Amino acid sequence: MTSSETPVLGLSGAAFGYDGNPVVSGVDLTVSRGEVVAVLGPNGSGKTTLVTGLLGLSEHLGGQVEILGTPLARLTDRTRLGYVPQRHTLGGGVRSTVSEVVATGLLASRPWWRPAGHTDRAAVERALDAVGLADRARFDVATLSGGQQRRVLIARALVAGPEVIVMDEPTAGVDRASQGVLAGVLQRLGRGGTTMLVVTHELAALRGVVDRIVEIDTGHVTFDGTPQAYADHQGEQARSVGRGAA
Ligand SMILES: Nc1ncnc2c1ncn2[C@@H]1O[C@H](COP(=O)(O)OP(=O)(O)OP(=O)(O)O)[C@@H](O)[C@H]1O
Ligand SMILES: [Mg+2]
Repeated sequence: MTSSETPVLGLSGAAFGYDGNPVVSGVDLTVSRGEVVAVLGPNGSGKTTLVTGLLGLSEHLGGQVEILGTPLARLTDRTRLGYVPQRHTLGGGVRSTVSEVVATGLLASRPWWRPAGHTDRAAVERALDAVGLADRARFDVATLSGGQQRRVLIARALVAGPEVIVMDEPTAGVDRASQGVLAGVLQRLGRGGTTMLVVTHELAALRGVVDRIVEIDTGHVTFDGTPQAYADHQGEQARSVGRGAA
């Protein structure tokens, strides 16, 4: 951990939802600088609602939410958070190169009238390098595999140099070999000190990457601890429903 004691994310009794109706509530969560936290839970439990709430994309309906020491409503510099959305595909009708897609991650930090300069191009190269796609910079994104497209989205989230990156199922829908490559990318980022909140159903693919696990069930945090403690917690659950349990 670095000098700053201010948590990257600080939630206390937080609630998020849609149209005034909370989907997740009573969330107490503190994430420190450099931590890699996996968010687990069944389909529909509220994982996406929670993480999009941190980005101002679902409604904040209660409790305190501080991001990098600033209350959510007052956070104006959105480039401090990188975001890789769930189920996002690239390459519909529009032809764009891999670099062009990654460069869109810089639009929030550069006025629209100022053309991309040398430093922007260098940032795009660095982000592509971080995800192992430097050699694909000039390819049409539509020609990339699903796993490579997920990596392009991670590069897009990284390019503006965020202090925390939120990823919603970065390894979903990609084959096992690409999952391994993605896990390697996350591992390098984690070791480099990037704070990450990663929603996933594939914890096994992220073995050795994750410092902490937060489990969400029906809109509430049901576990928060180390991967080892989580394994014990699951063992307890298995025992409690197993044969001979009291
Ligand atoms: N835009 C929306 N408007 C209203 N309700 C929504 C919206 N998005 C999600 N919900 C509801 O919120 C609940 C939680 O959904 P959410 O997408 O957060 O779950 P999840 O844990 O991410 O599930 P999955 O593992 O399938 O991605 C669900 O009941 C869902 O129907
Ligand atoms: Mg989801």
